[in-house]
Order: sequence, then structure tokens, then C-alpha cells
Amino acid sequence: MTLESKAKSVVAQFDYTDDQVNKAVKEFLRQMDEGLQKDGTSLSQIPTYVTGVPNGTEKGLYMAVDLGGTNFRVCSIQLNGDTTFNLTFSKVAIPKDLMVAKTAQELFAFLAKQIELFLKEHHEEHFEQHVRRRMTISSPDGFRDEHVFRLGFTFSFPVQQIGINKGTLIRWTKGFDIPDAIGKDVCALLQDEIDKLHLPVKVAALVNDTVGTLMARSYSSPGKTSTILGAIFGTGTNGAYVEKLANLKKPLTGEYDKSTGEMVINTEWGSFDNQLNVLPNTPWDVALDKASVNPGIQMYEKRVSGMFLGEILRLVIIDLLKNKDVAFFKDENSSSNDWKSTTNIVADSSIYTQWGLDTAIMSVAAADSTPELSTLRGELENQLGIHAAGLDDAQAFKAIAYAIGRRAARLSAVAIAAIVLQSGKLTDPEIKDEPIDIGVDGSLVEHYPYFRDMIYEALAIIDGIGPEGAKRIRIGIAKDGSGVGAALIALVAAGMEKSMSTQDYLGELRSNAKTNNLTAVPEDAENAATD
Ligand code: GLC
Repeated sequence: MTLESKAKSVVAQFDYTDDQVNKAVKEFLRQMDEGLQKDGTSLSQIPTYVTGVPNGTEKGLYMAVDLGGTNFRVCSIQLNGDTTFNLTFSKVAIPKDLMVAKTAQELFAFLAKQIELFLKEHHEEHFEQHVRRRMTISSPDGFRDEHVFRLGFTFSFPVQQIGINKGTLIRWTKGFDIPDAIGKDVCALLQDEIDKLHLPVKVAALVNDTVGTLMARSYSSPGKTSTILGAIFGTGTNGAYVEKLANLKKPLTGEYDKSTGEMVINTEWGSFDNQLNVLPNTPWDVALDKASVNPGIQMYEKRVSGMFLGEILRLVIIDLLKNKDVAFFKDENSSSNDWKSTTNIVADSSIYTQWGLDTAIMSVAAADSTPELSTLRGELENQLGIHAAGLDDAQAFKAIAYAIGRRAARLSAVAIAAIVLQSGKLTDPEIKDEPIDIGVDGSLVEHYPYFRDMIYEALAIIDGIGPEGAKRIRIGIAKDGSGVGAALIALVAAGMEKSMSTQDYLGELRSNAKTNNLTAVPEDAENAATD
């Protein structure tokens, strides 16, 4: 069999037809509904206790940290109140051994240390003042509340949220595996380590990156229609959307504001269709799942997100290399190679190890449309030690990589379409012709060429959306969404703390009044408490 026809047959296996896309949207809607009714379903539909989206007028200085993929980011954000903000950040790669550490404490101590380094570098004055105060005041908690940074903690894993700054880890995803942390409150884990370093920081809000993206997009692009979905297409994939409280049937444990009639739901759509009712399942999907740390779960994520696409491609390549009937990255002699050499793969090429093919090379492949594919061939050499790959090899690599990327984009359209349909906005006469706004972030949607175009192409063939509906859907990048969004939720949380203490204060006044036989609480107590 020629390499070209073999590549074609592989490509065909990654085809996800219009019909399949439409079936998947229906199934997505069904699984969304199931997740709103009860716990333990494949689409988790986690209530976030966030009951409104910002409008761009919010103000203040907040901190945010972001743990969720390959890097840990620490930032401070000045919200200017006019839809703009200023962001300062530092980023550090998470050491691989900490992703599978024995205890959660090891990971969280590392995170707290990064917060300390950030404060020293970027907010030294604030930091020094605080340490001085701590040294002169006898009480260990003797610093004034207003000197404490409110921190929004973006923790991008499935968490059972119990309140705005409290939530227990349900399961790890994206290659993290620290069993000791399961079931623990991740905010408390972080706060404990922050306290050990005596930092002036309070973990005020717990946020999934998708929720942060939704908040950030709403803050920066206000309009008649607010943003309905925040989605990540990066190392992992997930979305958070605004749902009507009336549709949320499963019981909620924590306190929340019911006045808006809405709540942001973290779908955890990475686990959509773990049962494989509608997801495609090639032999390489099966092999990837089997060798993963979490077989049988995150099945949608394993077909869509950046952490996995490169690995699917690698598994295909390994199969082709093993196939004696196909000359892939092999030449009989230099005459069959257009560069008049023979292809060699170095013995220690990372192509032979799990996760050894970085998804980023798929973007290079998609972007290279030169006749010789020389950029791609250069990358094959640099990244994978494949020397003098022939043009036919590079073409086969490009075609297969593209098929995997395109399938991912079409699957992404399934989730987006289902949420748009669930929102009912396309048929709402009040916002006729208005755009339906969606904020997205993540390496795939940002760097994979034409990823958004492929999503739009699929949206246009979906029942209930069609070409006209697709035109109204505005998918925009919300860069650094999770940082800004976490800051916004820390701000909401600070407001909630205030009103909570007002209640406590009034409660105390009332009970004092009773014991002292006074008839009424002073008239201006309510105002005094909120000042
Ligand atoms: C994984 C996580 C999810 C996160 C997503 C994107 O799917 O489980 O919480 O939002 O990755 O980072």
C-alpha cells in the first residue's frame, strides 16, 4: 500500500460527519439536563454559587493564582472600573514530580512559596509593611483586614463547590494524580501553606478557569447580551455557562443569592459521554485511554484538548512505523527521498515515549502550506529527531495531524452548540439580531490555525443553529481570563464577607439588646455596620 493511500484511510477514520455532530449535540443536551437533576452523572454540572456576571464597573486591587495545567501563574490585577484592567503576572512550570506528589501538602507548599516570591518582587512595599506590622503587634492575627490581599484561586479541576471559597476535590485530570488530596478542601490546603509563610493573603474565592473566563469576558465586553459561556480549549477542555435556577433541580448545600434567578454552572464537559454513546472511538483513542492515569473518564477531553491530540497522533505514527507494508519515514535509498538523502529517526527520539509528541507541532503542520513543507520538516528534525524526512512523509504527517485537529474542532462545536441552544438566546425576540457572546481561552483555540473557523463551519450545519445562527455566535478570546475572572469573583466574595459580617454584627446587637432588656436595636445600626 502506498503511504498516500494508507494516510487517506487513517484520515477517514477521524472523519466526524455532520450527522454524527447533530446526534452528539442532542446527546450533549440530554447529558446536561441529567447533570442538573442529580450528582454522579458524566457531565458533572457543578453549581458554582456565582449568581451574576460583572458589567465592567468593578474596581479594586486583587490577587489571583491559577493552577490547572502545565504552569502555575500568580498575578495581581487592578480593576479600573471602566471595563479595563492592569495585570502583572509571573509564571512557573509545575515540576512534574509535584503533579504526582505523595501528599497534597508538597504541592500546595510550592504554590504558597510562589505567592511569596511574587509579593516580594511586585508588591514589596505592601509586603514589607505587613511583615513589619506583624513583628510589632503582639497578636498573631493583629494586622488590619484592609491590608490583606483578597486572592481568587483558579483551580481547574473538578471540585464539589460548597461555598464561594470552599470546595473539595472530586478527581484529578490532565495528568495530575495525588490521591491524598481527593475529598479535601483545596482552599484550606492553600490557606494553610500561605499562613505558614505569614503572608498577608486571604483565599477569598475558588474558581474554575472556565468560570473565570466567563467573568473576564463579561467584564471586558459588556453589551446588551452578556456573555453566556466561558470555555477553555487548552491542555484540557471545559465550559461554564449561565443557567436558570429553575432548571437546577439537584439540592444545593451552601448559601447563595437567589435574586438574579441564575447561576453559573461548571459543566466539566471533559467527561461528556464517558459511556461513548456518540463519541468517536478509533483504535488510537482506545490505546490512549488505556495507557492514561484515568481510563474511562474525561473521554471527550481525550479527543479534544491539547494534552491529548499530540498523543493520538504519536500513536498513529508508531502504528505506521511498525507497518512493514508502508514506507513511512523510511527510504529504500536516497533516490526515493526528494532531498536525496535517507530518512533516519534517532534512537532516543521522543516519538517512542508516551506524551513524547508535543501538540504544538500540529499547529506548525497546519500552518505550513509551502510546497516543500520545509518548516514542518525542520520541526520534525528539531523536536522529534527525524532527520531528512521526505516530502511524502511530511504530507502524510500533515494530513493525519489535520484530521485529528479537525475532529477536535467539530467536537468542540458540539459543546458550544448545545450551550447556545440551552440558553434559548437564538430564539429570544428581545435580543433579535444581537450577537451571542462566548469567551474562550487556551493554547488550542489561540494557536491552532483555523480552529475557530472549523468550529464555525460545524456550527452552521447544526439543527437549530444553521448558517444564520452561526453568524450571530461571537466567539472571542478572553486572554488571561482565568486571572481576571478570579479577581472579579474575589471582589464578589469580599462583598459577601462584608454583608455576612453585617449580619453577624446585627445578630450580636440584637441578642445583646435582649439580654440587656433593651427594646430595640439603635436605628442607624444597619448603616453603621455596613460602613
Ligand atoms: C479539565 C478540568 C477542568 C478545567 C479544564 C480546562 O477538564 O477538569 O476543571 O476547566 O481542564 O483547564
